[in-house]
Amino acid sequence: MPENKRALVFHGPNLNLLGFRDVDMYGRLTLAEIDENIQKHAQKLGFEVRIMQSNHEGHLIDAIHEHRTWASGIIINPGGLGHYSIALRDALSATRLPVVEVHLSNVFAREPFRRESVISEIAIGVISGFGAIGYQLALDALDDALSRLL
Ligand code: DQA
Repeated sequence: MPENKRALVFHGPNLNLLGFRDVDMYGRLTLAEIDENIQKHAQKLGFEVRIMQSNHEGHLIDAIHEHRTWASGIIINPGGLGHYSIALRDALSATRLPVVEVHLSNVFAREPFRRESVISEIAIGVISGFGAIGYQLALDALDDALSRLL
């Protein structure tokens, strides 16, 4: 796999409950099923993908640091952390890698506090409201962005 096609996919807090949690909002697919679809799509695009989920801000930050030199881009659904975690934002920003922010739900059509994201400002773009396919759209977007960086 080419070195410029390595994507890190992060799922933040509570996303391990997908398929059980608020299915009307987040859909019926489990996180394992979503991850399988991400891997399949990545294969089609020729991407090597590492996927992780954590309910702990510090674990996500450590993993971002660890993969800083491995990854060519980051796709992150920060979950609730996206609305307030400056530390997560700083970690992402420090990598200087292209970041795509994903939300399964349309955060702009929900409670006012969900419209705020501290990540969006340092992301190359945001995909929100398309359900699990949002991760595949994010990979397409990252692929396109990386091809333009060459
Ligand atoms: C979410 C939206 C967040 O507001 C929420 O806290 C989540 C999931 C989404 O994927 O729609 O945990 O990131």
